[in-house]
Amino acid sequence: MKFFVDTAELDAIAELNDLGMIDGVTTNPSLIKKSGRDILEVTKEICDMVDGPVSAEVVALKAEDMIAEGRKLAEIAENIAVKVPLTWDGLKACKVLTEEGKMVNVTLCFSANQALLAAKAGATFISPFIGRLDDLNIDGLDLIADIREIYDNYGFETNILAASIRTANHMSDCAKIGADVATAPPAVIKAMANHVLTDKGLDQFVADAKAANIKIV
Ligand code: G3P
Repeated sequence: MKFFVDTAELDAIAELNDLGMIDGVTTNPSLIKKSGRDILEVTKEICDMVDGPVSAEVVALKAEDMIAEGRKLAEIAENIAVKVPLTWDGLKACKVLTEEGKMVNVTLCFSANQALLAAKAGATFISPFIGRLDDLNIDGLDLIADIREIYDNYGFETNILAASIRTANHMSDCAKIGADVATAPPAVIKAMANHVLTDKGLDQFVADAKAANIKIV
């Protein structure tokens, strides 16, 4: 499973990228707002840093306006994936931009039917939102499993990009189900390294090393 990081914060992207932990980046208008940066400038800087796909989201609602915005975003760099919402207009924009050879990420997906339509429109990525379904007491992981089954039934090549990931367990659960990609905030990716038994074991090793006066360099 590929890892994308869901942020527009350059320092956090750089740290994970330098470690080889991420295969791409996703942003959205809320993350751009949080960064306090101009969308075109910060997206260019992210694309210069990361080799893999960088999702940048349109803000228009009508297909023709989304297409114009998508073309402008795609000019930033070759690794831009234009992000469009899963609306009828968004699907129209997806079809046009895909036919122009651009990567398209269809976002705000909350049902298997929506994912089917995105695949039919040729989306490169479909972004089902796990956490926002969990917030409503609907199991977001079930949606990932349903889309995996449906895409596999018919050989759809659209990549399942699990989004709205809130916990480290979401990451391993998505990997077990077979999501192609999971995008998560930096803190969630880092939290994957944590285990209480690691901390406990390390405390003991540190204490024993001190007691035995072990020195290596
Ligand atoms: O990738 C989509 C993501 O940014 C949404 O996450 O936590 O706002 O539901 P969240």
